[in-house]
Amino acid sequence: MNIDRTKLSQAAQNAMPSGVRRMFELARQYPDSINLTLGEPGFRTPEHVIDAAVKGLRQGKTKYTPNAGIRDLRVSIANKLWRENSIKCDPDKNLMVTGGATQGLMLAIATLVDPGDEVIIQGPNWPDYRGQLDTVGAKTVFAKVTEENEFKMTADVIEPLITDKTKLIIVNSPSNPTGGVLDENDLKGIAELVKRYKIFVISDEPYEKLVYDGFVQKSLAAVDDGLEDYVITVNSLSKTYAMTGFRVGYILANERIMTEMIKLQEFMIASIPEPMQMAAIEALDHGEEDVREMVEYYDRNRHLIVDGLNRINGFSCVCPKGAFYVFPNITGFGMSSVQAAEHILEKTHVVTAPGSAFGPDGEGFIRICYASKYEDIQEAISRMEKAFGTKKSKR
Ligand SMILES: Cc1ncc(COP(=O)(O)O)c(C=O)c1O
Repeated sequence: MNIDRTKLSQAAQNAMPSGVRRMFELARQYPDSINLTLGEPGFRTPEHVIDAAVKGLRQGKTKYTPNAGIRDLRVSIANKLWRENSIKCDPDKNLMVTGGATQGLMLAIATLVDPGDEVIIQGPNWPDYRGQLDTVGAKTVFAKVTEENEFKMTADVIEPLITDKTKLIIVNSPSNPTGGVLDENDLKGIAELVKRYKIFVISDEPYEKLVYDGFVQKSLAAVDDGLEDYVITVNSLSKTYAMTGFRVGYILANERIMTEMIKLQEFMIASIPEPMQMAAIEALDHGEEDVREMVEYYDRNRHLIVDGLNRINGFSCVCPKGAFYVFPNITGFGMSSVQAAEHILEKTHVVTAPGSAFGPDGEGFIRICYASKYEDIQEAISRMEKAFGTKKSKR
């Protein structure tokens, strides 16, 4: 049988264009638009972190590194995991450096999942999970979370979805797009489930330190004994240290899984640029004050946006405890989430992301990122108040 040699792969053809990107394109026509869509810190990367990268370049650290990353960074990560998460690990056996959490997730998924396997993720979800799972031919199963339950993907939401084909669960706390968090009890429930059913879990934790109201985010791997056979932790410096462009993240896993991942890393990216790895050491070892300041700033923004939205007709917004997103309910507009996001853009030139960009369970919501400037959020709220009126002064 002849094959069509010009046909592109099914994975590429099936990939869905980003619903967030589309809003960007529409926003181009408004020069005064305020963009609250992109999940990226508004802060400049701390100067001492930039200096560390520049120093690396000047020292000629411009060659390949080991697939697992430079040992000094793995030691810094191991120290961080012990200091902050009470996780003991061997930097030579359990850790590797990745190209942000995005590449770490792709690597972990490619290592754990075969075509046809079912993978449970939260719905609404960060869209890249779905894209990555489609790429390896896995079937995505959505565990729907609701605002009534503060958007938590708890064990009782997951368990009914487990079948003979379930291979992996992806847990994400604090969560993108909802800002929801799982506390220690929630994580213990998931840990119990995982051990009972012997299912792998990826715990994707890039927003770990972006938490408010005194909430402390525990790492899933640390909440129970005997989880090392099942839990793979993915983390990243992108959000915490305003280092999205550095593309540095890491994975913690047991030696059996790690050995396979390091082999695959050779085929995917070989290694992460060494100056960026040096910057990561600087951030992990000396960046705590920067993080504290950024989290304080985000917290002020969080109150501003939640209070503001809850005053305005059409919105109802749960106050999230983590990340830098709010996920307000917009059913009050009587439109789909795409229509509502476009309506908001048209009337106020404020760019938001429709909830449906985060999977079918995101319908009825929009996502707003509040990691930008306080003044921009103030202005966005003021424009929306003017356009839609406040709940007290109904038009
Ligand atoms: C839940 C979640 N995981 C992982 C990532 C990837 O981040 P990075 O690749 O920059 O580390 C993001 C980025 O938006 C995210 O929201």
